[in-house]
Order: sequence, then C-alpha cells, then structure tokens
Amino acid sequence: MSAHIGVTGLAVMGANLARNLARNGFTVALHNRSVEKTDALLAKHGDDGDFVRTETLQELVDSLEKPRRVLIMVKAGKPVDSVIEQLEPLLEPGDIIIDAGNSHYEDTRRREAALAKKDLHFVGIGVSGGEEGALNGPSIMPGGSKESYDALGPLLEKIAAHVDGKPCCAWIGTDGAGHFVKMVHNGIEYADMQVIGEAFDLLRSGAGIEPAEQAKIFEEWNKGELASFLIEISAEVLGHVDAKTGKPFVDVVVDAAGQKGTGRWTVISALELGSPTSGIAESVFARALSSQTEQRQLAQELLAGGEAAVEVPESFVEDVRQALYASKLVSYAQGLDMLTSAAKEYGWDLKLDEIASLWRGGCIIRAELLKEITKAYAAAEKPANLLFAPAFTKAIAEVLPAWRRVVATAVQLGIPVPVFSSSLAYYDGLRRKRLPAAVIQGQRDLFGAHTYGRVDAEGTFHTLWGEDKSEIEAVDTH
Ligand code: 6PG
Repeated sequence: MSAHIGVTGLAVMGANLARNLARNGFTVALHNRSVEKTDALLAKHGDDGDFVRTETLQELVDSLEKPRRVLIMVKAGKPVDSVIEQLEPLLEPGDIIIDAGNSHYEDTRRREAALAKKDLHFVGIGVSGGEEGALNGPSIMPGGSKESYDALGPLLEKIAAHVDGKPCCAWIGTDGAGHFVKMVHNGIEYADMQVIGEAFDLLRSGAGIEPAEQAKIFEEWNKGELASFLIEISAEVLGHVDAKTGKPFVDVVVDAAGQKGTGRWTVISALELGSPTSGIAESVFARALSSQTEQRQLAQELLAGGEAAVEVPESFVEDVRQALYASKLVSYAQGLDMLTSAAKEYGWDLKLDEIASLWRGGCIIRAELLKEITKAYAAAEKPANLLFAPAFTKAIAEVLPAWRRVVATAVQLGIPVPVFSSSLAYYDGLRRKRLPAAVIQGQRDLFGAHTYGRVDAEGTFHTLWGEDKSEIEAVDTH
C-alpha cells in the first residue's frame, strides 16, 4: 500500500497531525527517530485510520506515492535542517518536503531556495491551534510554490478547521509567506493575551473584582463582540480554584510569562520593515518585564507610586470591555498592516481577506471579530488600514470615550496597561494632523545636516544652523 503522505517527528504535534490525516481517510506513513514513539502511537491510536509503520527515512520515502509528500514536525532550527539533509538524497524531482513547525520565515526562504535548485518543493506551513487543533482541525497557513499547493492543498484543506463550510487553509504565497503569516498570527496572539491580562488587572486592582467573579464577566463578554477562544479560555483560567490551597489558580501561579520566541520575531521583523506594531511590541516587552523578577522585587521597595485617589466610574466594567475591544482591534490592524508591508518587501501577493478568513477557526486568535475583518478586506475597495473600514471606524468611534476613560484611570491608579495605552497612542498618532516628527527633523538637521522637506515646497532643504541660519536646497542625505 502506498501512503498519501509521510510524517516524521511524532511528538504530540506531529502525532496529532498524523492522526488527523488518517482520520480523514489518508494513508499516513509514520517515522520517528526512535521507533518506540511510532509504535506507541500505533498501539494507542492505530485504529484512527490507515498507517504505514517505517523505521528509517528510506522506508518512509519508499512507502509514499509520487510526488512524495513528507511532513516534518520537529523542533524549529537546526533539527529541521538536519532532517532535510537526510531526506534530500532520498527524494526525486517534484517531491515535496513540508515543514509544519514554527520555523522562522527567513529559514524557510533559505531552505526553499536551496531545495528549488534541486527541483524539490519545500513548503513551510504555519499550523495554529495547539495540540487539540492539530488533532481536530487547525488553522493552516501554507507557503511555497503554487504548484506544490496543488498537490498538497486538498489534504491540508481536509484536515483543517472549517467555518461555514470553508476550510481554514489557503495558499498564502511563495517561499516563507506561510511561516511569516503564522509568525504575525502569534504576534497578534501575544497582544490579545496581554490585553486580556490588562483587563483582568484593571478589574481586580481598579474595581476589586475577584477572579471567580471575573470568570462570569468574561463568560458574558464571550457572548458579544469579544467572543473568541482566548476570552473563553481566560474565563476558565480565572474560574479555576487551586485544589491545594483553595485560592484562585491565578494567585498561585508565578507571574512571569515566558515565550518560545515567535512574538519576539514578529517585533524584530516589524522593526526591520518599519511597521508600527506598537501593541504587539508592548506585549512582548510586558512578558520580558514580568520575567525581571529580581528588579521587580527591588522596585517594590524603592520606587514611589504617587497614585491619585480616583474612584473608578460606575461604568468601569463596561468601559474595560470597550477598551479591550478597541485595543484588540488595533493589534489586528497593526498585524495586518505589517503583512501589507511584508508583501511589498518580499513580493508576496497576500490576500488579507483570505488570511482573516482562515484565522476564523482552528487557531489561537480565532474570534468573532474576524468575520467582520474578512468582510472588510473582501470589499471592492480595500481599506489602507483595518481601522478605515467603515464598520470599524464606527465601532471605534463608539468605544473611544470608554477607552480614554480606562487608560486615564489606569494611569491615575498606577495600573500598567501597556497595550491598552500604546494602542490608544497609535490611534491618536495615526489621526493627528501634525506630529512632533517635525521637531525631530529639525534636530536631525541641526546636529547632522540630515535635511528636511517643507510643507510648502518640493525638494530637500538644510538650514545653515552654525552660520546665519539661512536655508539652502540640499541633496537628501536622509
Ligand atoms: C498556535 C500557537 C503556538 C505557539 C505557542 C506560543 O498558534 O497554536 O501560537 O504555535 O507555539 O502557543 O508559545 P509562546 O507563548 O511560548 O511563544
């Protein structure tokens, strides 16, 4: 029996993807560096569908129909290169290697280019939804050549989550486009998680609402425009009581958040692209600050608070809900704007409506909001920024007073809300008629003759600051 696809790397994610493929009627050849994992999977879940047991990569390759599809699910970085190195001599032109891990998109671009020279397809696919999603339907973001998608897409679309009968999987674009979009997905994920954390802190420290009560508030929020996987699981986390102590679970967990790195990658890439993803960046920095436990300890002893004794308004819970909505929307707007910049930089034809659509189900940032975002980008006239789509322009205008009240109250009370407040600053920065950047241009021209443009004339100018301060036309030296 020849298998439709091979999977190598059978830790939880690889095993679950293999099982998902088998459950959907595909014959899956299994391979793992140590055969015990393969056997354990077969012993436990062999009934999920048709599997082919293999012990070596050669056996795996031999068991596949052509063009061969080999999916690698190993740790991002060197392990991926090592598996590719071993696989490559065993494959024939036209075969497809798929990397379903959280690889950096630049690695994917490099690997794709190297393998293309050998007539092999290399497809980096972003897979979101955690272990559960991998088994029951993830959101899938495949890059690589269009040709490889033709051979691979039908399998991926079948195992992906479906919303309104549509698979949460579509060809994203060439080379590293799939992994890039997955990376930005994770950046938005970080911001989304952080704004929920900020809402929790505001409700507790500002309004004295205990976690169990907040769980109910979050459940309520999950019925409206905030409905999303992350709000849903936050209600569960907040409602959970520690069995050992009887305390709220969130009070016994160390408040230092780690990261595997995709959020950080998003911000590094945003900086390189000159893309203002301030909310995403603040969420990465917030995790970093949370992990500076020693400094935090010292700061509690050394640094003054100077908080103002302000009462939180009556409407506080609803205000926080609205501010959360606005900040979340800005994170999506920034992430999608970054995709637009990346598309230009890397020559990808990224379709934002399709991307928003495939985030509607299966993935960690799945949210009700994505339906409207999909619609906004499917319109004949695409908004230059998500916030310019009429539905969102209106939605933000409505929540703006609450958003300002919440940020102002947080500042007065000394509650850090880096994403709530930076999102508002982004919003205000975007719509500001004159930004202080003109002063910066003046400073740059003074100390470095970096030149400037004028509002009333074409060209580039320089003021002779050290002489008579007259202005000359200049060659742009940036
Ligand atoms: C997903 C997730 C997943 C990712 C982490 C993020 O979309 O299923 O984004 O791919 O690995 O859950 O982990 P860190 O918070 O450790 O970066």
